[in-house]
Parts: sequence; C-alpha cells; structure tokens
Amino acid sequence: MTEDQTTTTYDIELIPGDGIGPEVVDVALPLFRDVAHDYGFEFDITRRDWGTEYYLEHGEMMPEDGLSQLADADSIFLGAVGHPEVPDHVTLHGLLLPIRKGLDQYVCKRPNVLFEGIESPLKGYGAGDIDFVVYRENTEGEYADVGGREHRGLNHETAIQSALFTRQGTERIVRAAFQAAAEREGHLTSITKSNAQAHSMVFWDDIVEAVSEEYPDVTVERLLVDAASMDLIRRPHEFDVLVASNLFGDILTDIGAQITGSMGLAPSGNIHPGDEHPSMFEPVHGSAPDIVGEGVANPLASVLSWSMLLEDVGEVTAADALWSAVTDQLADQSAPRSPDLGGDAGTEAVIEDLRSRL
Ligand code: NAI
Ligand code: MG
Repeated sequence: MTEDQTTTTYDIELIPGDGIGPEVVDVALPLFRDVAHDYGFEFDITRRDWGTEYYLEHGEMMPEDGLSQLADADSIFLGAVGHPEVPDHVTLHGLLLPIRKGLDQYVCKRPNVLFEGIESPLKGYGAGDIDFVVYRENTEGEYADVGGREHRGLNHETAIQSALFTRQGTERIVRAAFQAAAEREGHLTSITKSNAQAHSMVFWDDIVEAVSEEYPDVTVERLLVDAASMDLIRRPHEFDVLVASNLFGDILTDIGAQITGSMGLAPSGNIHPGDEHPSMFEPVHGSAPDIVGEGVANPLASVLSWSMLLEDVGEVTAADALWSAVTDQLADQSAPRSPDLGGDAGTEAVIEDLRSRL
C-alpha cells in the first residue's frame, strides 16, 4: 500500500485464469475501479495471464518465481482455473494450491447467504433464513501433497494419499472459527469423521475441545460430515459458523452454494490473517466450461469476493457498498438476472445494472 496526502493505492495481483474466470473479472474491473474512486482510494492492478493457456505454452501453470511475484501485493484476486484439455490435478496443483499454501492462506472463508429475491431449492426458505459461514482449513489436511504411486500399470499397483494434520495448522483454523462465532451468533459446528478416522479426526476433536475453553460463550456442536451433508439440507437455518478440514470444507461449501441459489453467487477468501503474506479472493465456482464464451456467466460471486477483498484491506465502507449493491439488485425483481438465476441477462448487463446502483 502506498499513501500520499490524498489517495491510498492498493497493489492488487490479478489472475483471471481459465474459462469464465476472465469473463467475470474483466467485465467487473471498471466497476471496482469506480467504487475505489468513489471512496477515495485506488487500485494498482497487475494482471498475470497464468493458467492453462500459459501451461500449454510453457509447461507450467505459472512461472517458477510466481509466488514471489505475488508476495508483496496488498491482495490477490483470482477468477477460476481448470480446462477440459488438462487434467484437473495439474491445474489445481500448479496454481491454486501452491498459492494457498505458499502464502500461508490458512483460512478459507466462505459465506453462504440466502439473499432476498433468490429462490432456494429448499422448500419454505426465504430471505436471510440461511446465513452461515464456513471456515475451511486451507493449507494441509487431505490436500497435503503427501503420497505416491508405485508399480504403475502392474496388478499390484499401489497409491497412497496421506492426510496431514498438525497441531499448529488445526489450532489456528479452529481458533479463527471460534473468533468468528464469537463475533456472530455464538454457535460453532465442527465437522469431522472421527468415528471412522480415529487418528486425525479425534485429534481435531481434541483441539476443538481445548480451544473451546478460550470461548466460553460460544456453543459447540460436533457433526460427522455425512450427518452435516444431510443437515445442511434439512436444517440449514440452524448453522452459524462451521469449521472443517480442507476436503470436508470443500464439499460442504458446494452444498452451501446450491441451497443459497447458485454457484454464481458464492464468494470466498483465502485469508492469511497476519501481515506476512497477502490474502487471495476468488469466487467458489470453477471455470464452467459448459457456458464459457457465451457471455452469460454470473459475475456476482466475483463481485461479492471483491467486496471481501475490500473488507480485508480495511475499506469496510466500500466493501459494504458493493455488497449492498448486489443485495439490492437481487431483491429487485425487475433487475437483470443471469440464466443460473432463472433470467436471460448476460454478464455485462448484470454489471451495468450494479453500476447504476452504486
Ligand atoms: P464449475 O463451478 O466450473 O461449474 C459447475 C456448474 O455451475 C456448471 O454447470 C457451471 O455452468 C455452473 N456455474 C459455475 N459458475 C457459474 C457462474 N459464475 N455463472 C453461472 N453458472 C455457473 O465446476 P465444475 O464444472 O465441476 O468444474 C469445471 C472446471 O473448473 C474443472 O476444471 C474444475 O477443476 C475447475 N474448478 C476450479 C475451481 C477454482 O478455480 N477454484 C473450483 C471448482 C472447479
Ligand atoms: Mg470446491
């Protein structure tokens, strides 16, 4: 961040990525610049054309020193990665996971809100009835790159994939979730599978138990991930903050996106809570190859993610304004809507309408 007498400038690293990633980012950028201008700050945006196109040309998803190019930013924004012609483990392990891990963005924060004007597939749920946030561990767990394959192609071929749970890694995500619960409704649900996974998940339970003593006002509920999948459909109104491992959080937030209307509305932040590294914000959705190039991708998940970015750098008023513009638009039945929300408006029309509300 550089500051002269009048204007604060935030250095943003922008990775539009693949598929609809660039579509939802490019259309919205002028809007983000306008919001900054209105609230008296600026963005200095560096665009990195990393992703699958880059991979097909260079054999890697980002340059070898990619992480250090991102390291000094105030924040990072990512569109999406993934391409039908390249295996997903290559794209994920070549870009997204190295950034989340390398910049120690250990909190993956995913709000799930049923906005006014949005119909949930769940019967009887209206505006605000669903409002929870998932704190997903983002640097280890089941997504640790620990394992290997031996005896390839032979009958006794073997694959081992180990999950990695450290005390430090578990404590810090659990503590962040308790803190969030303390600042919200005071209810935390910890998701495990400790009946079947008696090492890592019982360890997780023990840590939840220990950290809970620091937060006597937060009520703690423990759910197995299969029960949680059911209860997110059956009684989503009862959740406030959920904390889960990398894999479980990944899966549960897709349920969260669906019950609150669309993948096109789900924002997320990969947050490094300290000052040492920048955080990264991105919509929960992927590159959506089935609609790429049609100009109909819903940009609102990106806009809400950008609002989370603004909040994270401290521009809370601007963040609220952007978030409110989205909620106003969704509540307005005459406003343009993208096809995933049952409308026929394109990406640009949705953004143009948002501009008029700011
Ligand atoms: P996806 O999220 O790309 O798409 C799932 C469904 O939701 C599709 O029908 C898609 O059209 C729809 N959808 C998603 N975003 C939308 C938007 N903004 N507006 C309207 N509709 C939207 O997930 P999928 O199809 O499983 O994966 C596609 C690719 O994306 C794969 O290569 C996958 O690995 C990658 N992926 C990347 C992620 C990331 O960059 N963080 C997350 C999830 C998947
Ligand atoms: Mg996912």
